[in-house]
Parts: sequence; structure tokens; C-alpha cells
Amino acid sequence: MTVTIVGSQLGDEGKGALVDLWGGDADVVARYQGGDNAGHTVVEDGDEYKLSLVPSGAVRGKVGVLGNGCVVNPKTLFSEIDELRKRGLDPDVRVARRAHVILPYHRRLDGIEEEVKSDSDLDAGTTGRGIGPTYEDKAGRRGIRIGDLLDPEVLRDRLEYVVPQKRALAEDVYGVDTGEAFDVEALFEEYRAIGERLTEESMTVNAGEFLGSYLDDGADVLFEGAQGTSIDIDHGIYPYVTSSNPTAGGAATGTGIGPTVVGRGEVVGIVKAYLSRVGTGPLPTELTGDDEDLADYIREKGGEFGTVTGRPRRIGWLDVPMLRHAARANSLTGIAVNHIDVLAGLDEVKVGHSYDLDGEELFTMPATTERWGRCEPNLREFEPWPEVDWTAVAEEGYDAIPENAQAYLEYVSAEVGAPIYAIGVGPDRAETIELVNPFNEDA
Ligand code: IMP
Repeated sequence: MTVTIVGSQLGDEGKGALVDLWGGDADVVARYQGGDNAGHTVVEDGDEYKLSLVPSGAVRGKVGVLGNGCVVNPKTLFSEIDELRKRGLDPDVRVARRAHVILPYHRRLDGIEEEVKSDSDLDAGTTGRGIGPTYEDKAGRRGIRIGDLLDPEVLRDRLEYVVPQKRALAEDVYGVDTGEAFDVEALFEEYRAIGERLTEESMTVNAGEFLGSYLDDGADVLFEGAQGTSIDIDHGIYPYVTSSNPTAGGAATGTGIGPTVVGRGEVVGIVKAYLSRVGTGPLPTELTGDDEDLADYIREKGGEFGTVTGRPRRIGWLDVPMLRHAARANSLTGIAVNHIDVLAGLDEVKVGHSYDLDGEELFTMPATTERWGRCEPNLREFEPWPEVDWTAVAEEGYDAIPENAQAYLEYVSAEVGAPIYAIGVGPDRAETIELVNPFNEDA
């Protein structure tokens, strides 16, 4: 069967801990979108591994697959694999031949375009990894795919077509100097060698066939979503979004396994007990003004600094219309709620239960970001819960969670319309209380 893990908010919900927990029960862990804009930390036997591209299951001896919906920077891929090998692991990572390649000019253009957009407040606050420009080329049918790196003739043809366009864009439109990142010969030599290494190490696969044969043999596959529903290119707060589909439908298009197979499995939405946001754009429940000290406190306590970029994240109360939107867009079968320990000991705990917009009460997100930005949250107050020994709580289980926190969790589950599968009460793997293992559910 399959289990799909999706972010229910704006990314950074703590998906890694659950992928880590349930990935242990899977045979294969596959990513279906995004690239090295996703940061996750895996702790194994006390050793910490920081990864941005390699699926975390690879650290635990699982097969890790980067599906066709991913955009792959092969240099990041090799440096992460080399680092894991240096530390004594033997990761088995496969890359879809249909996945698109992030080239050096994509990264340069990402930075240049963000800079230009910032004059009109349209910059998304990207991670600068070239994600958007690579997906643009994919949609523009001028991208270079992993499979193209394996055939020097095809690679040269593709580069000769696209690179002069990119150079003209950088030089003539944006007026910046270009260098080797925009040079056909230099790129050809470098990426042909990358293709050779991919071949030598038998790393490339037809992702759909590869995963399909595992599933045919009765294996368990975990689809690991990166980022979150509200920064999905279709369902998120456009244009302050990433350029892929983190929502569960992406697991089908991004791997070559059909939606009925994904839908027969479980789709678990990961929820952070409050909101954090690393990028730009509106945020109705953001803690600002008089609440800035509270935001600073939560940021520090929750370690809310970007994993990839180190940027301090913006903080807000839980946005429940956003969760209702995620529940529908992903057809969630269960949720995991993280970081309830971070809210412990506060004087007040609130959630944005609904929005007021132009005299109307809304229970889900409006489709335009401009309207979302004008939403006034209707805050609902919860009785706060005390600081407790969360390690002991994790050992004892759900009943040891302070009552007021239980009321909060039950409210969230009822509003989302999905049962709670797990609760994160601390950063360590052992600090996740598991109520349901989705691989053991009869979906
Ligand atoms: P990009 O994905 O680098 O193009 O960035 C586009 C938007 O998505 C920006 O607002 C980023 O901050 C956000 N973003 C990308 N990856 C992540 C992530 O892993 N967590 C949270 N936000 C992300």
C-alpha cells in the first residue's frame, strides 16, 4: 500500500519526523515534487544528517526515489550521497529519468528575478535554489531532463537550443553579466560527466515502472511531500508559492503511480500547532504589533529558522480555514499535529477559527491572495496548558497530554474532519506519540 505525507500549511510543519517514523515501515520512500528547497534533519543512532534532496528513508537503508515531478540539482544530490558515504552509510537513491535538471543558470535567474520582482512586492522569498526557473522551463518544453544527461548528443542539442535564450534573458533583459553558468561548452562538459556518474552508479529509473513493480510485489511505499498545501502552485497563496504541487495529487503525477492507487492508501496531513512562514505575502493570523514578543518567544522555542536558508520565520496562530482547505485539497485520511509543546506555558492560546471578509464569515480560504490578505481572523481562545515533562508524556502516551492541549487537538481534528494519527511533543523521534500507524490501517 501507499502512505502519502503532505504539509497542511505553509511548509515546515515537521513532516520529517513522521516520514522518519513511518518510513521505517516502508520499503521505498519516494519524493514527488520540489527539489533541494526542502530541508530535513534525520537523527539516526544519535547521528544527525541534514538533507535537502535525498529522501530521508535512504539514511535508514530504504530505497529512496526522486520522482519525475522533482527538479534535481545533481550537484546537491552527489554531495549529499558522498557525505552519507563518508559517514559510513550506503544510500540507495534512484532518480527518475523524467525528472528535470536544475542547471546553474536556473539558480542565477532565480536570484535575478526575485530581485526584480521585489520592486513590486511580488518576490516570493524563494530559497534561491533555481526551483521556479526549472519548472518554468519544464512547462515551456525547453527543460533538460535527467534522461537527457545520459545521451551526449541529446544533451548538446538541448543546451544549444536553450542556453542562448537564457543568456539573452540575463544580459539583454536583466542587464547582468553571465559566465560559465550560461556557456554551452562548459555546461556540456560538466553535465555529460554527471550523466556518466549517474549511469555508472545505475541511479536512473523509469519511476512509475520502478515503483509499480514494488507495489505489484506487495511492498509498502511512502510518498514524501515537501513544502505545504498553501504554497502549492495551484492551491496556495499565488504568487507567494513554490512552483510544484505538494498536495496529494502530486504524488500521482509526480511518480507515475495512478491516483486510484494513491487514493486507496492513506493521506496524512501534517499540521503544526501554530503557523510559521519563511516567505513573503499576507498572513492573517500573524503575530505582529503588540504580539511581537510572543512571536519572538515562539520562534525561539520552536526553533523557527529556515532549514535551507536560516531565515527567521514569521509566526502566527493556527489558521483553521487553511486546514479545512488542506483537508479537502488532499482528502486527508488522518492528521499528525506537531509542536504542541511549543505552545505550553503561554498565557493565552488562540486559533483563527474563521475569517471576516466584506461582512461575510468564511470558513475556508478565498481563492485569491488579495482577498485572503484582507481577511480578518475570528480568533477563538483556548485554555492554555502548562509546561510539563514532555519526554515523560511521550513515553506515557495520549492520556498524559495536559487536558487543555487534548481539547485543542480534538478541536483541530473535528474541524479538519480527520482523526489524529500522531502528536509531536518535542523535536526527537522518540517524542512523537503514535496513535495510528497508517501502514497498518485497512484503508
Ligand atoms: P522556492 O520553492 O525556492 O521557489 O520558493 C518559493 C516559496 O516557497 C518561498 O516563499 C519559499 O520560502 C517557500 N518554500 C520553499 N521551500 C520551502 C520549504 O521547504 N518550507 C517552507 N517554505 C518553503
